[in-house]
Amino acid sequence: MNYQFPNRPRRLRDHPVLNPMMTELRLSDNDLVLPLFVTEEREEIVAIPSMPEQFRWPVERLVEKIIEWRSLGLRAFALFPHLDASKKNEEGKEILNPDSLVYRAARRIKEEADDIALIGDLALDPYTSHGHDGILSDDGRVDNDLTVEALCKASTLAAESGFDLLAPSDMMDGRILKIRETLESAGFTQTGIISYSAKFASSYYGPFRDAIGSQGRAPIDKSGYQLNPANFREAARELHLDALEGADMLMVKPAEPYLDVIRHARERFHLPVAAYQVSGEYSRLWAAHQEGWLDLDKCMLESLLSIKRAGADLIFTYFAERAIALI
Ligand code: PBG
Repeated sequence: MNYQFPNRPRRLRDHPVLNPMMTELRLSDNDLVLPLFVTEEREEIVAIPSMPEQFRWPVERLVEKIIEWRSLGLRAFALFPHLDASKKNEEGKEILNPDSLVYRAARRIKEEADDIALIGDLALDPYTSHGHDGILSDDGRVDNDLTVEALCKASTLAAESGFDLLAPSDMMDGRILKIRETLESAGFTQTGIISYSAKFASSYYGPFRDAIGSQGRAPIDKSGYQLNPANFREAARELHLDALEGADMLMVKPAEPYLDVIRHARERFHLPVAAYQVSGEYSRLWAAHQEGWLDLDKCMLESLLSIKRAGADLIFTYFAERAIALI
């Protein structure tokens, strides 16, 4: 058989030299942010069972490790604290302690490694005994404005400690505006805000909640503030509001299940877009790999590429170290 097709895209694909030359997109070290967990433990790193190869780091070990990661080409890190249960209470007051773990860690990291970008998550869930990202009112719901007030106070502590970017991950209304105003009036004009704008009430956060110890016995329902996974329009509205309120960067989270939202954020706004490949996206690939069902590295790169192809400028990923060794 010999057809005369005018279009044969395989001509280029099937050529061993031309094929790689046709690559439209490459991952680079400039795309990656590594999320990290810091612990009050002094000596030992603590493995996180539901997140293979991820650890809670004591402050000084973390400082050393960041210097090592920097030499591998990783330069942006997002920090999350794992607090002792004794430091948690209903209102998450420990977030207002200037010597709290995450502020101490940031100061030490910046002392030893000034030339990295340090991103501070701004939310109450590592600090509250109930694990919600806010202060509860009498009826048990998260009180929006009380929570925003606490986040504003915490924002100056975080900025003072040396974080370059603050990342409110709470999904309260109006918080970007108020945090920006607070930072401006306190003189932190160069501290940026990367807003978790379209953060969905996802079931992929489970391993992270183990990692920071915010998970009680019952799964926690955050659908009163995080987005319904069915709602694109509502996500678009949240992105729009955070852009208006002064966010420097918008974030979509989780990443791979919400590529349509990432694409929308890229096309609609003139702001950098970040995507967070969350703990469950990480652990599901690991689990399949451990069963021998999937090739971890290939699936990891495919997932990261799909997130970049959708339009993300930055990808928060626990795979950052693994990925940078392959790209
Ligand atoms: C909460 C927060 C969460 C994550 C980052 N910040 C989880 C949640 O909303 O319960 C999840 C990250 C991940 O799963 O990797 N402020």
